[in-house]
Amino acid sequence: MKAAKTVTTEDPRLSEVFDKLLGTLRNFIRENRITHEEYRRAVAFLAEVGQKGEVSLICDVFVEVTVDEVANNGRGGTITTIEGPFYVPNAPAMKSPCELPHRPDEKGPVLFLSGVVRSPNGDPLPGTILDLWQSDQQGRYSHFDIPEAVAPYNLRARVAVDHNGKFDVKTRLPGPYEIPKAGPTGALLAAMGRHAWRPAHLHMKIGRQGYRNLTTQVFMNNDPWLESDVVEGAVKSALIVDPVKHDDPDDLRQKNLTEPYYTLTYDFFLEPVIAKAA
Ligand code: DHB
Ligand code: FE
Repeated sequence: MKAAKTVTTEDPRLSEVFDKLLGTLRNFIRENRITHEEYRRAVAFLAEVGQKGEVSLICDVFVEVTVDEVANNGRGGTITTIEGPFYVPNAPAMKSPCELPHRPDEKGPVLFLSGVVRSPNGDPLPGTILDLWQSDQQGRYSHFDIPEAVAPYNLRARVAVDHNGKFDVKTRLPGPYEIPKAGPTGALLAAMGRHAWRPAHLHMKIGRQGYRNLTTQVFMNNDPWLESDVVEGAVKSALIVDPVKHDDPDDLRQKNLTEPYYTLTYDFFLEPVIAKAA
């Protein structure tokens, strides 16, 4: 008798990579003499990762760097890094100059982020959208650590650059981010004797017709966690930036600010899409 066919839609790529993944996993079990007890412990751990909503978190901590590496191998323009688990699509659309949505009592020094989005030869690229997201000064992301109902799209926006390809965004300095310690991802890191910190950073996805989407981050210099990001390999030296502190009293008065503020200028370079031969 012929076995009933249960698969309705064949996906050759899935079959190929799943077989290889399974082969790699089986060899790993053989080589490391994984015990039945360890296998059960791993299954229970994965179940808990699912129950606590940490699937994206743990995968992005340990695996996404390599996916990004493969996707962007040999790419020109600004270097990429991981998206991470805290991107939210459809953030408010704004036009530069603008200020990111924030709570009335948003903590932390004001940061003026500016720059130009350019093609590889330096030409400015009007028509670009800069999708920005970041943690607040306490290292909390809106819609994850800060409930959406409390502060929808806090410190998130899709910013259209101006006709000179320039963006001018008023925001707040992000704080370093610590991965939640109460869940299984935090427990795993603790059991390996590793801290759970990411250095303070700003996230961006930059898109324009005719150019490859750029997903990257910029990291604040002098952050204590720059050398030991829990997401190994996410920090790249070309992405480390040095915000400039401004504390001249006359300047502050003029800007209607009572505390010192920071400025940061960083240009992004997009790579053109190469038209594929028909
Ligand atoms: C991860 C990425 C981030 O950008 C972040 O702020 C926290 C966690 C991650 O890769 O899991
Ligand atoms: Fe982040």
